[in-house]
Amino acid sequence: MNQTNPLPEWTDDLSVNVEIIDEDHQAFFRLAALMNDVTSTPDNDQPYLIETSINILEEYIEGHFLREQKAMAKADYAYLVEHIAAHDAFADRVTRIIQDYRQTGSIEKIGTLAHLVTDWLNNHIRVVDAQYKGILTNANVDDRPLVYMAAGLDTELVS
Ligand code: FEO
Repeated sequence: MNQTNPLPEWTDDLSVNVEIIDEDHQAFFRLAALMNDVTSTPDNDQPYLIETSINILEEYIEGHFLREQKAMAKADYAYLVEHIAAHDAFADRVTRIIQDYRQTGSIEKIGTLAHLVTDWLNNHIRVVDAQYKGILTNANVDDRPLVYMAAGLDTELVS
């Protein structure tokens, strides 16, 4: 899989000039690498590593998307609705694939998930997130760790 669809690598031109969002995105690149490794290296740890990568992905989706959406709402970002729709569509696809994996135990489903994550890196972060560059800043983005965001420990609700 990774021979035919090489993983993109983080490069500085992908920065959106918001430190915590760049950190989230870099973590997503590491997650894509982990998922690729997990699917291509079957061993006794594979089920554990798959569950770990699924958990990380779910936390990423919850926490990172909330972080961006809160900041975009605060900034009256013009493409907020479209951006949320893209997040929701990705989250729905991920959820369906994870459900399929849990029902079938098929490693191929995780391969599909790894492809989806790679496409997300290539398209969403590189193109869609880049559109808010200069609008979201270190000052208007909640910079708490992802796990706090994902756990719903978020008391700063957007009005
Ligand atoms: Fe960084 Fe819109 O996800």
